[in-house]
Amino acid sequence: MALAGRPMSTLVITGGSAGIGAATAAAFRGAGWKVVSLARRPCPVNDAVSVAVDFAQVSWEQVVQTEALPHVDAGVVCLVHNAALLLKDDALSLTAERLRQVLELNVVVPAVLNRLLAPRLQEGSSVLYVGSTLSEKAVARTASYVTSKHALVGLMRATCQDAAPRGIHTACVCPGFTDTEMLRAHTGGKAEVMAALSSLSGHQRLVKPEEVAALLLVCAQQPVIDGAVIHANLGQVEH
Ligand SMILES: NC(=O)c1ccc[n+]([C@@H]2O[C@H](COP(=O)([O-])OP(=O)(O)OC[C@H]3O[C@@H](n4cnc5c(N)ncnc54)[C@H](OP(=O)(O)O)[C@@H]3O)[C@@H](O)[C@H]2O)c1
Repeated sequence: MALAGRPMSTLVITGGSAGIGAATAAAFRGAGWKVVSLARRPCPVNDAVSVAVDFAQVSWEQVVQTEALPHVDAGVVCLVHNAALLLKDDALSLTAERLRQVLELNVVVPAVLNRLLAPRLQEGSSVLYVGSTLSEKAVARTASYVTSKHALVGLMRATCQDAAPRGIHTACVCPGFTDTEMLRAHTGGKAEVMAALSSLSGHQRLVKPEEVAALLLVCAQQPVIDGAVIHANLGQVEH
């Protein structure tokens, strides 16, 4: 609920239709924020504004300008870069086409959205990046994704340097194995693989999307968190 005399704060999130994005939309809506989701499918949260955007189409920038920006009110805005593509590939056979496809959604889209939203980011606003455990380490056969998630940390740190003078703060929240469509698709939906991934967490379970969402809400509300890489992975077990 907006406070009397104050405009409602607005969450603009990519990929608010599923997984961590949908949970984040629900958490912010529950805290009284207006929610604008940019994804191909609608956001399941009541009262959320769903703008149908496919970031793989060259027309996406125009769609955001004409259909999403009019919904972003004056006031505090939290821009969450959440949508991402995870492909299986290898650093020794990666093609330029495949690398560009992943970098486009995972890195170029956030950078362009920063430029499009910048005029609307008043003091107290934030730009939050959803990274990954793979923002700071690598595993085999995930080269394009690892590269993109490391790049996202660089973009976040640059955001900190460029936006802090305007009173805009930033962070990169890095989930561990989280129970979403993306993880199920990556594991082929195999229960035994999901169980094996659960056992890699110190707590012997997957992260819940709602746990990542709650952390993103804290980051949006706390400008003292600025320039930080924050891992949310239940303490991954290292072998
Ligand atoms: N799940 C994990 O274990 C895990 C671990 C570490 C980091 N992460 C990160 O967490 C974030 C969210 O992942 P998730 O697990 O919640 O994935 P998810 O359930 O698969 O959701 C991905 C979201 O991205 C959107 N998206 C994908 N391609 C898009 C496109 N071309 N245009 C517009 N939207 C697009 C999807 O929306 P539509 O399909 O409706 O377009 C969907 O809302 C990602 O940045 C991911 O890298 C996840």
